[in-house]
Amino acid sequence: MATSADYGLGEFEFARGWFMIGPATDATRTPSAIRYFGRDLVLYRGESGTPYVVDAYCPHMGAHLAKNSTSYIVLDGEQVEGESIRCPFHGWRFGTDGKCNHVPYSDFVPKAATLRTYPVIERAGILWMWHCPEGLEPDVELADFGGHYGEPGWVEWKIDYMGDLNVHGIEIVDNMADYAHFVPIHGAKDFQYFANEFIGHKVHQYYSAGHRTLTAEADDQLVLDTWYEGPGFLQSEMAGAFDSFIMIANTPIENGVTRSWHALMVKVHDGSREITDQDREIAFAYQEGSRLAFAQDVEIWGNKRACINPMAIPADGPYGKVRSWYKQFYNPRDKAEALQARVNGLVVTYDTRPNKTAA
Ligand code: FES
Ligand SMILES: [Fe+2]
Repeated sequence: MATSADYGLGEFEFARGWFMIGPATDATRTPSAIRYFGRDLVLYRGESGTPYVVDAYCPHMGAHLAKNSTSYIVLDGEQVEGESIRCPFHGWRFGTDGKCNHVPYSDFVPKAATLRTYPVIERAGILWMWHCPEGLEPDVELADFGGHYGEPGWVEWKIDYMGDLNVHGIEIVDNMADYAHFVPIHGAKDFQYFANEFIGHKVHQYYSAGHRTLTAEADDQLVLDTWYEGPGFLQSEMAGAFDSFIMIANTPIENGVTRSWHALMVKVHDGSREITDQDREIAFAYQEGSRLAFAQDVEIWGNKRACINPMAIPADGPYGKVRSWYKQFYNPRDKAEALQARVNGLVVTYDTRPNKTAA
């Protein structure tokens, strides 16, 4: 297992950005223990329905706020009150700002009785948490996933958990530049175009080629615009047998261990009628094809050794640039612009289009 320091990513162990922490159904009125960014955390849903993430250990005497089944606070259903969470040990209660707002046996509440809280957004059926090693509020908006979630004619995504991989997120993000894996791993053929564009905190991959599983006819081209906005998840607008939208999330559990999910939404018709069971079946088959295509990458990642320095050749694609781009999230925010300036721009790895225009 190689860590952020082994890859020379920067000052921080874990990146700044929005990260998936689970499907929305994971957040309930019963607090649950989760672990990401090398920290024990607790996820719960307030009475309003809003999800929250807080540090797991109570500042009073260190009890875990969720790992308890025998305290009367748990048995009596008093763990969540309003939007606050109550510790099972002595009953101290913490509000959404993390401050202790009730001690059952004392009017005196120490100012230091504060729990670290993290910004969380529930969107498109997924829980997203903002992680900032400097403890700063989000400086980028969470993506809207093409606006396709809930859009007429689109079947919402099925979320596939892909595993906890002994691989650092950087090796997953490498895939953005990895022109040469598409033929052997994904059965791509008849490549027309492959390029990457670096734009500040975003990196795009433009792809146009045949694909053995995701096109209707053997000779059709699959056209993809795939991008990361931040380090934590990939989005892709895909035009193949159907229009579809992919999300692939990678969230660090420990430094060098990454949880992976895949999700795909499919446009089954123009939105002029309801979605039928038959539409869902078609979408499900397409989702499954995409999941299997991604599982081809996951199998490699789950079994490879760490690659600190790729033995890259020019025809591989711009790994070096992708890795440089990724460093901006492991360094103080005020250094991000300088790091972005080193890589901003378009890199074309392959282009045999008859009419060579921009992607
Ligand atoms: S340890 Fe949490 S209230 Fe005492
Ligand atoms: Fe891939």
